[in-house]
Amino acid sequence: MHTSVLFCAINDDLTAGPVMYPEYPHRQLPMEKNWVFFEGDDGELYCVYHIHPKHVVFRVPYVDGGRIRDVYQTTMEGAWSRGHYRGGASPVRIGNEFVHFFHGMIRNGRSRGVYSIGAYSFQSKPPFRVTRMTPAPLVWSDNGTQPTTNPHYDDVIYPGGVLLESDRVRVVSGEHDRNIAEHVFDLPDVMAAMRRVTAASLCVSRGRPLHPPEVPRDGKAYVRCEGEKSPHKGKPVCQCRECGPQCPAFEPDDDDPTDSPEADDGLTSELRHQIVAVTRPEDAEDGPGLIGWCSTDKAKAMASLIVKYKPETIVEIGVFGGRSLIPMAMACRHNGTGRVYGIDPYDRDAAADSLPPKDAEWWSGVEMERVRKSAEDAVSMLGLSPWADIVVNRSENVAGAFDRIDLLHIDGNHGEETAARDVELYLPKVRPGGWVWMDDTDNGTVGKALGIVQSQCELVQAYSHEGGVAEHRLYRVPL
Ligand SMILES: C[S@@+](CC[C@H](N)C(=O)[O-])C[C@H]1O[C@@H](n2cnc3c(N)ncnc32)[C@H](O)[C@@H]1O
Repeated sequence: MHTSVLFCAINDDLTAGPVMYPEYPHRQLPMEKNWVFFEGDDGELYCVYHIHPKHVVFRVPYVDGGRIRDVYQTTMEGAWSRGHYRGGASPVRIGNEFVHFFHGMIRNGRSRGVYSIGAYSFQSKPPFRVTRMTPAPLVWSDNGTQPTTNPHYDDVIYPGGVLLESDRVRVVSGEHDRNIAEHVFDLPDVMAAMRRVTAASLCVSRGRPLHPPEVPRDGKAYVRCEGEKSPHKGKPVCQCRECGPQCPAFEPDDDDPTDSPEADDGLTSELRHQIVAVTRPEDAEDGPGLIGWCSTDKAKAMASLIVKYKPETIVEIGVFGGRSLIPMAMACRHNGTGRVYGIDPYDRDAAADSLPPKDAEWWSGVEMERVRKSAEDAVSMLGLSPWADIVVNRSENVAGAFDRIDLLHIDGNHGEETAARDVELYLPKVRPGGWVWMDDTDNGTVGKALGIVQSQCELVQAYSHEGGVAEHRLYRVPL
């Protein structure tokens, strides 16, 4: 299933006008949502595609099939303090700027999403830079008192429309998957609640709001962060009553790639963001990533290796929904060189071959055609066709097609003999100094395969079994 965003003009008599399907080559799969359309000063149709970590605005041409070419990206320090912030009601023009009422989402103690509404303003002309933002919500949902029917969320409030009336603003929202509510604000109050977005006026400690009444504007409320674990070490942090005297211990959050502690992984924030999007967990607010098993951390580690060593020929045995293949292809695109050949027969018999009965039974129920299509769609819709090929065949049939492999990812059939056969056929093709990434190394059935790799290669790193993610290991063929 793919979710897309369409645009439909409404005629004066409220009938529906032509429908357009804007085409964004770097669309996220499988789900696109939260696009927010507005009319620019020049009469052109624009769309806020993303707010954070970059403010991304498209021009959406009516001609040329809505193919998006003009993309404006600007960055800002994260002024918002309540988790994710994503699109909401269409921006409205107030004074010289647009104001966008957006939705925020944060997980509560039960790990369920709780929504809120905030607002920010941005310039009315390209590049549409964000100027001010409410650091904390204007409206909160009720945090568990009005549970939704969706088990992943406790409370939902989503701004859908805004009406300006002289000095009042009406924000209409959907609530708890059930009701429609109206929130009326005095416009001067909203404008006063928005703080200028500049590094100096922000509390950079994650999850902590700036509390205007307690924080004098002269900057004295800021101290240098001394948190050893914090990526903000040495930067000014707020010391208001809620934030405390120093930056709290940093809590990594894969959904916020600009705030990652692994800033030395060699990935640009754009590439990291792309990888996070395709490897998100099943219950992520913006929808799940591609189907498969590759964790965000593993995908980032693989991409990091590719960005650093620029391998030309990458072979993956076992593609499934492309959850590891796509991040590797994204890294090749970033490098401007290299190609990933993903081999998978998408055949239940092959997948179940030699596996213990319980595993074989699981694989015999998988709709392989659907999985194949999702992987192939992901390659083409994410614009990765120049960087990835899916070879629909059994690994044992196509080993002869490869002479020299720079990086081999072994993640096919995990049966004892079948995994060992993959190693016997493909390891000799990996060039001296080349890399072998082996998945599920803590799975007893790949013991024989692992033994061969271990006897011929040097272990570079073992990625331990944490958070339900199987162990995987990186080896290097000696020079
Ligand atoms: C564990 S999944 C791959 C997961 C994927 N790399 C990821 O990270 O999400 C194993 C895949 O190996 C494929 N497979 C099974 N037998 C194979 C064979 N003989 N050659 C290549 N792939 C095979 C299966 O169809 C299945 O899609």
